[in-house]
Amino acid sequence: MAYFRWRRAIEFASLDHPIVGELFLRRRFSEPKLIPPSGWDEQYQQGVYDRLLRDDQKHHLRLLGSLIGDGRADLSVLEIGCGEGAFVEVLRGQKVRAYVGVDFSPVVIEKARARFSREIAEGWVRFEVGDGRAYSEPAWFDAIVFPECIEYLGDVEALLNHYEPMLTPGGVIGVTQWLGIRPLRLWRKLKRVRTVLNEAVVSASWGGAWVVTILAPEAKAN
Ligand SMILES: C[S@@+](CC[C@H](N)C(=O)[O-])C[C@H]1O[C@@H](n2cnc3c(N)ncnc32)[C@H](O)[C@@H]1O
Repeated sequence: MAYFRWRRAIEFASLDHPIVGELFLRRRFSEPKLIPPSGWDEQYQQGVYDRLLRDDQKHHLRLLGSLIGDGRADLSVLEIGCGEGAFVEVLRGQKVRAYVGVDFSPVVIEKARARFSREIAEGWVRFEVGDGRAYSEPAWFDAIVFPECIEYLGDVEALLNHYEPMLTPGGVIGVTQWLGIRPLRLWRKLKRVRTVLNEAVVSASWGGAWVVTILAPEAKAN
């Protein structure tokens, strides 16, 4: 815990002073490792990500859910990189009309379908296997979210350009990222290419922290 807290101090400093993060990064920077679906399958089979379902690992998801739902009823939500469904779990208490979760790991989609069989039977939840870099749905969504996965999905600007046509008018993009020094580069890029509507850092008592960001889609000229 002491290590996490020490690291968090550096990460908080990097939020306002990117140079601090860059100094720490320079020594051991590497691009995020792209793991194929079979690699994620294996990790999910081994239970490596079971911790993501713990109550004290979902504070950022609760905030994300309330920010995308702010003042809106009957939301429809698309989640990319949904894993076992930690996010839709926090949406249970909200007025959500439709939720689609997408992940390219068939193993995790099976787990998610088993966990949410009741909601699937109720007709408002659906899980699909798909590549989040280029997934498409005929439906429109009030919010499209990328919790803890955007670093695996290629260039963020191209990604947003791909998904934004699937938003309803007034719809928003939601992103959460672990407050690590490396993801902060990506977070800064997001802020350069889109307008931030809302943003907060959520930190847990055990030392972990996440950045939650709500973005407006790029305004298109008529
Ligand atoms: C760290 S986990 C986060 C899971 C979930 N969003 C959560 O917060 O509990 C990252 C997820 O992204 C998924 N993922 C990674 N690359 C992907 C891609 N290209 N398309 C779809 N899903 C992807 C992985 O299979 C994994 O489930």
